[in-house]
Amino acid sequence: MPKSTPSSVYVCQSCGAQTKKWMGFCQTCNAQEPLEEEPVRPVSASADDTRYRLAAEAGSARRYADVDVSRIERMITGFGEFDRVLGGGIVPGSVVLLGGEPGIGKSTLLLQAAARVAEGVGPVLYASGEESEHQVKARGERLGIGEAPLYLLAETCLEHILDEVDRVKPAMLVVDSIQTVFSDKLQSAPGTIGQVQEAATRLLFKSKGRNLPIFLVGHVTKEGSLAGPKALEHIVDTVLYFEGARHHSHRIVRAVKNRFGAVSELGVFEMTGAGLQPVPNPSRMFLAARAESVPGSAVLCCIEGSRPILVEVQALVSSGIYGTARRMASGIDHKRLSLLLAVLEKRAGLKLSAEDVFVNIAGGLTVNEPAADLGVVAAVASSLRNRPVRPGTVVFGEVGLAGEVRGTSQEGLRVKEAAQLGFTRCVMPNGNASTDDTIEGCERVGVRTVDEALEELLD
Ligand code: TYD
Ligand code: MG
Repeated sequence: MPKSTPSSVYVCQSCGAQTKKWMGFCQTCNAQEPLEEEPVRPVSASADDTRYRLAAEAGSARRYADVDVSRIERMITGFGEFDRVLGGGIVPGSVVLLGGEPGIGKSTLLLQAAARVAEGVGPVLYASGEESEHQVKARGERLGIGEAPLYLLAETCLEHILDEVDRVKPAMLVVDSIQTVFSDKLQSAPGTIGQVQEAATRLLFKSKGRNLPIFLVGHVTKEGSLAGPKALEHIVDTVLYFEGARHHSHRIVRAVKNRFGAVSELGVFEMTGAGLQPVPNPSRMFLAARAESVPGSAVLCCIEGSRPILVEVQALVSSGIYGTARRMASGIDHKRLSLLLAVLEKRAGLKLSAEDVFVNIAGGLTVNEPAADLGVVAAVASSLRNRPVRPGTVVFGEVGLAGEVRGTSQEGLRVKEAAQLGFTRCVMPNGNASTDDTIEGCERVGVRTVDEALEELLD
């Protein structure tokens, strides 16, 4: 006798793992949300439904040498920082997921990009499940969108959206947001991981089949990650994410994953009364509010994606009033901060164990590069000793556990950026300082250890 198949399964809303039995929380990714019961999905991969059948050139295997890559021509929107964060324009047939907190500017960014594409390339379909056509148009009025062939569709049914794609034949599709889209073919509720995955996968087939770029807006959970994140990130080609908080007027969009460009690439915008305006020189903006010659402030140069950016790192060291010293970091990893404080204590003799230490990257940027270490070290030591960093100085370099300063990559780019913004000294790893390419007006000071660095940095 054949076994009866269960009609529902329990699905993790974060990673998509399924179990037949109720287990409370996901055993695979340990997400905090409980598992949800969803109907078992029909096997939808009928022959003509798969990505490979739909792709224009599917069929038999082809020789590597015969594959033509010159065909991949990016669509340049002319919306500077948007093109940059995608790696130099929109790749036809790619699926891009854009995440961010509510109200940060996802719909604004995509509507502006859609208008540019509609003006320059061809019709664009903007499917919104969150707002009516009126609401989208009201936003468009602020953005000054004119007569471009932009089609609005207030729709949440996946099948209907796909039909409209066949009818309008757009050059680009925006789906705002993927969590509101549901398929007729599934019984589970909109927004569940099954629906989100199904919708994203079917849109992906459409994208590859028609060579159509698709932008999906993705919601974030309370913890700040994309809803159903792990499941979606695998499906799409590119994941863009609005970084930092909303209280700044500028907005940072970061490429967290990109099959067609540098990861970690940043696009920097300013939110104005007429939408998002690209900020072509972020270093200048990040340093604009800086107070010079105050203890606890250092300027570091990090490489984000393909471009060097100068940011200010601020530290405040004050005697702890509670029993245990507090350590707080924003914009850098707090574990990295603990490690650097330990190195300073042990290798440079700074007494930090009883002090509260707060470190912040000004402007809401998150810096993950090890080359930022020396900047953090400089700011902390400067605050502890109450001596400012020498004016006109930029710093970068990785700090090792033995207190040594280790070389980093792309030092030329960093020094050049510093010189362009009027800095006259770069304190950097000794191994990087000796390269020949001299850059006018910026002295390279090579250091081997944290001790040496502090000697060169503090007034
Ligand atoms: P929105 O794109 O609706 O955010 P999301 O789709 O991520 O939820 O942007 C909302 C915020 O941006 C809102 O608080 C108003 C502000 N805004 C401006 O400041 N200027 C503008 O021109 C527009 C369109 C929005
Ligand atoms: Mg929105």
